[in-house]
Amino acid sequence: MNIVLGVTGGIAAYKAVALARLLVEAGHEVHVVPTEDALRFVGKPTWEAISRRSVTTSVHEDVPEVRHVALGQRADLVVVAPATANALARMTAGIADDLLGTTLLATRAPVLVAPAMHTEMWEHPATQDNVAILRSRGVEFVGPESGRLTGDDSGPGRMSEPEAIAVRVEQLLSGSERGDEAEPADLRAPEDVPASEEAASEGFRGLDEAPSAETPADLEGVRILVSAGGTREPIDPVRYLGNRSSGRQGVAVAAAAADRGAKIVLLAANIDDAVLADVVSNPAVRVVPVGSAAELEAAARAASAGADAVIMAAAVADYRVADVAGQKIRKEDSGGRAPTLALVENPDILAGLVRERRPGQVLVGFAAETVESEGELLERGRRKLARKGVDLLAVNAVGWDEGFESSENTLHLIGADGSLVDTVGGTKREAAEGLVDAVADLIRDR
Ligand SMILES: Cc1cc2nc3c(=O)[nH]c(=O)nc-3n(C[C@H](O)[C@H](O)[C@H](O)COP(=O)(O)O)c2cc1C
Repeated sequence: MNIVLGVTGGIAAYKAVALARLLVEAGHEVHVVPTEDALRFVGKPTWEAISRRSVTTSVHEDVPEVRHVALGQRADLVVVAPATANALARMTAGIADDLLGTTLLATRAPVLVAPAMHTEMWEHPATQDNVAILRSRGVEFVGPESGRLTGDDSGPGRMSEPEAIAVRVEQLLSGSERGDEAEPADLRAPEDVPASEEAASEGFRGLDEAPSAETPADLEGVRILVSAGGTREPIDPVRYLGNRSSGRQGVAVAAAAADRGAKIVLLAANIDDAVLADVVSNPAVRVVPVGSAAELEAAARAASAGADAVIMAAAVADYRVADVAGQKIRKEDSGGRAPTLALVENPDILAGLVRERRPGQVLVGFAAETVESEGELLERGRRKLARKGVDLLAVNAVGWDEGFESSENTLHLIGADGSLVDTVGGTKREAAEGLVDAVADLIRDR
């Protein structure tokens, strides 16, 4: 996607460098448009190197290209980060005496603003009035957060972290979120994806390594994103399409890796508290509840940017309901006929993560198959592995009375070349330890 990153003149401009990098790494075309003042904080060569594009503040360069309108017209999204008090005032007034000002007027794309300033400036009625006017025009805001500001003071005014801004960028580009309100992550309409991504975008920050005394700490400091459980695709506000995954295997993987010193972000799709009890109080594990496949996807994309390895053990619905009913579907309204649910395909989350993988990142998928024989299981696993392009695929057989809700499991681990790396099994914890061994080998080889 085509993103214009407007940068204005505050200390937080240095954090916008990390934001630009995240956006470039996510595969976007990033056009940095700084103000003259912004260049006093971070110079042009930095922006040009990070965005891999020439950078100017002026409407008088590239005149035949009509850059002052073209950038705005072509943009899929305009982000202003940091946005100074001055920038908010100029946006409100529609001042267009530089490239950022003209771009903001020439665009019909969504605009996302990340304010950064001292608390007094943020709370000043002039700034607050400007924010209210911009919001009423549909401008989206991320932050500011409360926290340490330049110098010794702290309070509201600190720019949101680059990862959190990047998450909002993805949400706006996918049209999945408007507004700041978070909702509980259980069941909701697909177009109304909540802010578990924001929790996921906290990523691995603040997690402690908590190796267990009994296991080698060979994964100390390694950041692993794990998904577990099963997604729920809403039909109406009270019903969903789900699957029987309890989350036990994925939670066991998270616990086993944390015991070896890894830091874990666990995307928990509809997992019972009793199952999560193994990890919730572990200081090395951040549990992020997710509901639907769309929500899992957004959270996975948010957290994967900082992960050394990604293990996607959650059972994700391949399809979701095309038109989620706003009200409960009632029998008495159906004229005696059973309703038909039209389904649409969900995005392939794992394939997306493979496409966007950071250099050296290890990607592990899971496949649960109903099969007649072990040979068929491996064959199906190999085909899936070839489709997904992961480094390791853990395949297990499931059925009416195996795989789900039991405390035992057998995982066949297929390597990137299609060979059977190992078969690990026993309790789900034992199977998890075998899988983590194989992941540790892959990480070591990178
Ligand atoms: C060291 C320093 C830090 C500043 N930090 C901020 C800031 O965080 N937020 C803000 O609104 N203004 C800040 N200012 C003031 C702006 O730089 C000033 O209002 C400038 O005119 C903004 O220009 P621009 O919005 O066109 O980039 C800072 C100034 C200095 C010298």
